[in-house]
Amino acid sequence: MKLLVLNGPNLNMLGVREPGIYGSETYEALLEKIGDYACDRGVAVEFFQSNHEGALVDRIQQAYFDRVDGIVFNPGAYTHTSIALLDALKAVGIPCVEVHISDVSKREEFRQVSYIRPVCVASIIGHGTNGYLEAIDILLEQ
Ligand code: DQA
Repeated sequence: MKLLVLNGPNLNMLGVREPGIYGSETYEALLEKIGDYACDRGVAVEFFQSNHEGALVDRIQQAYFDRVDGIVFNPGAYTHTSIALLDALKAVGIPCVEVHISDVSKREEFRQVSYIRPVCVASIIGHGTNGYLEAIDILLEQ
């Protein structure tokens, strides 16, 4: 099994960025945690982060040609704005789990919308960075 862990804008700033909301774990530490978790379960993981919407679309399309089995996706702020990411997920038809570190349901009104949620097999919201690990478990069950 091969999974893509995809992160959108500003998630490379974890550890620096609003630690009261997103915690003090760095992006690099998060990748190590996910990598170890996946390895223990015999899952291969690829990581990609971009601050650019089109680069995320390109990476989702690439996942199709790479025969990726599932996508763990935290689109950051593009969650709340991007029809292009929704369309990319629809185009490739790869099972996707949406992850948000913070509990977006209890934050600003503009964070209540998720364009990708309707095409995701699950959404994990507000479980901190452990949400990425839970997403792997869900994709393993697909
Ligand atoms: C986020 C929530 C989004 O609203 C925000 O724009 C992010 C991170 C989260 O992981 O909690 O960049 O996706």
